[in-house]
Amino acid sequence: MNAALYAGQWPVGGEHLETSQLNEEGRELWNRKARFWDELHGDAGNLFHRRLVEPSILQLLALRNGDRVLDLGCGNGALARRLTREGARVTAVDFSEEMIRLAKGRSRGLASDIDYRTVDATDRDALLSLGAACFDAIVCSMTLMDIPVVAPLFEAASELLRAEGRFVFATMHPAFNSNNPVFFQEKEDRDGGVTTVTGVKIHAYLDLPPVKGSGAPGEPTPHYYYHRPLAALLQEAFEAGFVLDGMLEPAFSAEDADLGSELRWTGMRQIPPVLTARLRHP
Ligand SMILES: C[S@@+](CC[C@H](N)C(=O)[O-])C[C@H]1O[C@@H](n2cnc3c(N)ncnc32)[C@H](O)[C@@H]1O
Repeated sequence: MNAALYAGQWPVGGEHLETSQLNEEGRELWNRKARFWDELHGDAGNLFHRRLVEPSILQLLALRNGDRVLDLGCGNGALARRLTREGARVTAVDFSEEMIRLAKGRSRGLASDIDYRTVDATDRDALLSLGAACFDAIVCSMTLMDIPVVAPLFEAASELLRAEGRFVFATMHPAFNSNNPVFFQEKEDRDGGVTTVTGVKIHAYLDLPPVKGSGAPGEPTPHYYYHRPLAALLQEAFEAGFVLDGMLEPAFSAEDADLGSELRWTGMRQIPPVLTARLRHP
């Protein structure tokens, strides 16, 4: 898929919808499920977040004490709180007013305050109002695939960062965990013994329209996921002046396999559901 093909629009259910309309619908859905999300993640994030997302972000971020960090699409603030505990000064934004309200509630009493704001990450000017060249780092955790247009965010990020700043994002892995992959489990006679093989079936990668997905089991209001092949996603960042200088593909480990059925990500040790990357100015 070439995101530029659909500039300003996405094909949804046989028609083309404006990204602004899709984004507004997203805001409404996230407001409605904010409480569910907050309870699912609690103070420190769910297992997926704690095992895969947060460690890979922290590794690529390589925080220095006192770094000024912007968290884009902060949800209930699990990552923002962790960054604060690691010594960062954090501004955290989300377009869901309800999510920001809940994040503030969970963050009372921290040693260092988090500056929470309601900001739409598709609004370049709103992002720029946070202050040009004043962040040492920007993080965007598991949010890019929820946003119908990412060029404004990358453009603004490029200006919000100081010259040596870094932008670290984690997203659902475009090759393996994008727009409803099908999990399978098969028995196979291999090397003289019968073995169980689990994996993921992908039937398309280049051109996938947005689909509504539940994200976490039990989510009350499924929202659209916007699949971007790696080349298309990174192209948006390159056009905003970034280069890629770090990448991780975290997967669950053997000890996590006991935590659920093999037909969940916890049972797949050879397939990374998350892609985490670091961008910089050249
Ligand atoms: C999957 S959650 C991830 C939350 C958090 N970063 C984490 O890792 O747990 C996606 C978040 O992005 C927010 N979001 C989606 N579209 C957005 C937009 N256009 N502007 C700002 N936030 C947005 C949602 O409200 C939600 O809180």
